[in-house]
Amino acid sequence: MKILAIESSCDETSVAILQGQGEKIEILSNIVSSQIAVHAPFGGVVPEVAARHHTQNFLPVLAQALAEAKTDLAKIDALAVTSGPGLITSLLVGVQAAKTLSFLYQKPLLGINHLRAHVAANFLQPLTFPALALIVSGGHTELILVKDQVSFKKIGQTLDDAAGEAFDKVAKILGLGYPGGPLVSQQALKGDRYKYDLPRPMLNQDNFNFSFSGLKTAVKYLLAEPVLAEELLKAEKRSLVVADLCASFQQAVVEVLVHKTIKAARQKKVKTIILAGGVAANKELRQQLQAAATQNGLSYVVPEFALCTDNAAMIASAAYWQIQRGGWQAADYTAWRTLRANPVWEI
Ligand code: KG4
Ligand code: ZN
Repeated sequence: MKILAIESSCDETSVAILQGQGEKIEILSNIVSSQIAVHAPFGGVVPEVAARHHTQNFLPVLAQALAEAKTDLAKIDALAVTSGPGLITSLLVGVQAAKTLSFLYQKPLLGINHLRAHVAANFLQPLTFPALALIVSGGHTELILVKDQVSFKKIGQTLDDAAGEAFDKVAKILGLGYPGGPLVSQQALKGDRYKYDLPRPMLNQDNFNFSFSGLKTAVKYLLAEPVLAEELLKAEKRSLVVADLCASFQQAVVEVLVHKTIKAARQKKVKTIILAGGVAANKELRQQLQAAATQNGLSYVVPEFALCTDNAAMIASAAYWQIQRGGWQAADYTAWRTLRANPVWEI
């Protein structure tokens, strides 16, 4: 079975083609056109600008995905598209493109939940269920019980900022640029993670929720302290202070994420820990979660770097498993009439 999937929920336009038979899955192509350079001068994604670029980029990305997979639309068995959550203006471009292809080529179409798809980036290889997924992205931080490839139950989430959002805001405060995650983690490599004593929000609370906005505020207050403020003005001191702040901030985030994930995994008696979402590209998080999982006798899976941030291969994987587990009725020939983008779709 061949699935063509489309992702346009934020600032990446992506089309992927997956070929699967039973447990054997192959990604034939996964083209991602990023708009990072377009939005960087604004310090964040500008929804209307993102939608305009999705519109311009979609057909070239589609053509490249088909060419790389050496196939054409007539040979595709099903279409899939992210229909939420995300920026409504961005979602609409992908959803409308998918509906148009479904109508023209008479192909069944599945609307896919973007958060489930981040987790499904881990379903390209077999894994042992039940599992617990930690989803950490720019808009979400959630702990999800995963019974099988299509059975998800949320058991915890952030009460304010998402982990990726906290990285982005701290980068902005430190004047590093956008998106903040990769820039902060790069700076952190040169810093001392225990230099600044930042809070570990909700670490010992008896629930599986998170809170990251206080951590960002703590960094802001630190910067306002006279000694630090003065050091930041001196070029030779500035880079070390920024590196130490980034390392200390990153360690605080990672420690809370790892501690609560392991606690939930033990309480819920799962066999595997799944890491997913854009922040799963963070090397410290990957390593520290893996070490903690191993120590607790749990398997651990995380997608390769390119499949952590937004891409259509993960959308294709989610669609494939929906059809595998739910049968072909999961895909709908009339979805071009009925499918709607839902910017606040919960997992
Ligand atoms: O999943 P994603 O591509 O988009 C959303 O669905 O939100 O995640 C993007 C987020 C951004 O906040 C970005 O700063 C963060 O993932 N991110 C990272 C790293 N790479 C991307 N955060 C920390 N460390 C990284 N290496
Ligand atoms: Zn995402």
